[in-house]
Amino acid sequence: MNRIFSGVQPTGNLHLGNYLGAIRNWVRLQNDFDCIFCVVDLHAITTWQDPAALRHSTREVAAAMIAAGVDPNRNIIFHQSANPSHAELAWVFNCVARMGWLNRMTQFKEKAGKNRENASVGLFAYPNLMAADILAYKATHVPVGEDQRQHLELTRDIAQKFNHDFGVEFFPIVEPLIQGEATRVMSLRDGSKKMSKSDPSDMSRINMTDEADAIAQKIRRAKTDPEALPGPGVLEGEAKAELEAARPEAVNLLRLYSSLTDKSLADTLAEFEGAQFSHFKQVLTDVAVAVLGPIGAEMKRLTDDPGHVDGVLAKGAERAREITEPILKEVWDIVGFLRTRG
Ligand code: TYM
Repeated sequence: MNRIFSGVQPTGNLHLGNYLGAIRNWVRLQNDFDCIFCVVDLHAITTWQDPAALRHSTREVAAAMIAAGVDPNRNIIFHQSANPSHAELAWVFNCVARMGWLNRMTQFKEKAGKNRENASVGLFAYPNLMAADILAYKATHVPVGEDQRQHLELTRDIAQKFNHDFGVEFFPIVEPLIQGEATRVMSLRDGSKKMSKSDPSDMSRINMTDEADAIAQKIRRAKTDPEALPGPGVLEGEAKAELEAARPEAVNLLRLYSSLTDKSLADTLAEFEGAQFSHFKQVLTDVAVAVLGPIGAEMKRLTDDPGHVDGVLAKGAERAREITEPILKEVWDIVGFLRTRG
């Protein structure tokens, strides 16, 4: 059976990258897979979170999934801390994964910055918990943005090493699903930086809850260059890499438009060849508002009704535990733990 697991951290400011890189793809995959979507609050606390803000963001991420079209009856939506299997399996994986593997994780290096000695142990072991999230369900496919590719390679390594060390064919080797034109949405202020929840400048990202005026202002002020837009010829041969290097902000906006309208980058370039940014930005604003407006409004309606969201999360957690408990029992047997707990 093909099963999807994916997650989002409740660390505030869900943005267009989270939507186009992940959540929108989940909505499209829900018809073909058995899907489990998680608000990863255990991951969130690898850097300090204000407790009240964490509670709010946990509900808001669940609301975003529902507002974007993930059906909570057909799929499981829950928060990570409500299923102890994640933390339990993560401990086993702490003992399977090697320090050298984790030392290579670029996200840890970026997040820990220069002061590695002061980073939490949780931040270092973060990818092991992520592997546990996925493998506790024996998920086979993981739809994410490009920035998670390395973590999924580690998940594959952990599954392989566990299977090898214990001489079993137990954990599946997961396939990343990194799909569409917006797998790595960049900051609106700096085309070399990823659009991120934690960027101190709100002008760098379009939040899923931004009103039309804010979206218009952010796109109007987005960094561009003085050249007119190129035509589809730039996608041929080395020209594409040259364009991405020379005009990263322009390419980012073109990719955003392609993704929002479900067109290929080539079709978008053909549509806007020779146009000025002022015109293109207006059209981009209109499509961004048309897509995000209804989702943002529904997110606000849902977060104003925390009882409903909590109900969805509670039901989801119960179903999540039903899947992982028997899998973890098998893991305990494989590892050699006594099963006196039942
Ligand atoms: P997080 O919360 O940073 O992001 C959630 C999802 O959004 C994608 N994403 C982006 N996609 C395109 N452009 C961007 N600028 C951008 N920023 C974020 C991410 O790739 C992700 O798919 N470690 C994960 C959460 C996680 C997880 C998991 C994911 C925990 N356990 C198990 C999959 C499976 C994270 O921090 O995502």
